[in-house]
Amino acid sequence: MTRDEPLTVADIARLAQARLPRELWDYVAGGSGAETTLAANRAALDEVAVLSRVLAGTTEPDSATRLLGSASSMPLAVAPMAYQRLLHPDGEFAAAEAAQAAGVPYVVSTLASVSVEEIAKTGATTWFQLYWLRSPGVVESLVARAEDAGCEALMVTVDVPVMGRRLRDARNSFVLPDDVVAAHLTDGAVGRAHDRVPGSSAIAAHTAAVFAPGLGWPDIEWLRDRTSLPLVLKGILDPRDAVRAAESGVDAVVVSNHGGRQLDGAAPSILALPAVAEALTGRAAVYLDSGISTGTDILRALASGADGVLVGRPVLYGLAADGARGVGRVLSLLTEEFRAAMTLAGCTDIAAVRALSTVRTVRAS
Ligand code: FNR
Ligand code: LAC
Repeated sequence: MTRDEPLTVADIARLAQARLPRELWDYVAGGSGAETTLAANRAALDEVAVLSRVLAGTTEPDSATRLLGSASSMPLAVAPMAYQRLLHPDGEFAAAEAAQAAGVPYVVSTLASVSVEEIAKTGATTWFQLYWLRSPGVVESLVARAEDAGCEALMVTVDVPVMGRRLRDARNSFVLPDDVVAAHLTDGAVGRAHDRVPGSSAIAAHTAAVFAPGLGWPDIEWLRDRTSLPLVLKGILDPRDAVRAAESGVDAVVVSNHGGRQLDGAAPSILALPAVAEALTGRAAVYLDSGISTGTDILRALASGADGVLVGRPVLYGLAADGARGVGRVLSLLTEEFRAAMTLAGCTDIAAVRALSTVRTVRAS
């Protein structure tokens, strides 16, 4: 190993930032509004302190688990993220290849820039993320494509009735380059995000044109009847919505504020997690995202009630830094860090991690 070998996700983020044009870095790393929620996600994770256990006779910790029905080497899946060809020419294909090699599920975005059929060729365990579009025919055809491509779950993202106000993107008049398109939405009826409008984000304009802002519980119930795949709702913060999800036949929720990209001022998801987990005990699985960037964060999330986490930006940083190899490095670092944290916390397996207790610590400033 050389001195410059990245040892943390933060190291890889620095490599990505050095490689990316400013407007791409801003799109990926940025949040909405004053970025209060983005910063609070990190700060709140840092305030979770674990009461480690001792004398458990732990030798090699086993991080393997099941996420929905899928086997996973870690309690971690790659979060759905749009337009990954912005970061590397192989885009989603490279990221899914790395997920396959690491043995963790990869969630395909509705706004992927490589199609679900192509991504499936990597052999990765895939779940499909649905954005609810104004055209019901397109939603149905996406569900059918996901099922036919062998996706093992459907994840409906429920926190984007419209896109959050991403001020960096507006100031950059952000547009997609011509060679990056939404691979699932190419029939012409679903608009483009390639037309520069000074002072606004073309991605926000595109989503405003095509997403259905009025998505409601009847739509989730329709989907529950339409598919036998496990169903996940992503973007839950309030336990009342979590309970309603379970009552609607949903199999899992992702406690998430979309990585601080939607409602600025939304609660850090790690703070919202315990009440949701308690409300759902035994009724549905609970995953968490927004700010996970170390193995310790994964330990904190599981100790706070999660069955697993989704990881977003770190994967894109790996992709920008070095394609599939970079994503592989991010996933292996998180695995290494998590297993080391398990050992130090006296945990032999995932059940032991979930049984850990936490307290709130003081923040070092
Ligand atoms: C996202 N996210 C997202 N979520 C989703 O359901 N569908 C999508 O297409 C996207 N696209 C997307 C693009 C980019 C560039 C980012 C950074 C994020 C949100 C994502 O799934 C996840 O909720 C957050 O990224 C989690 O926070 P961290 O891990 O990035 O801190
Ligand atoms: C984002 C959308 C695409 O967060 O979900 O950029």
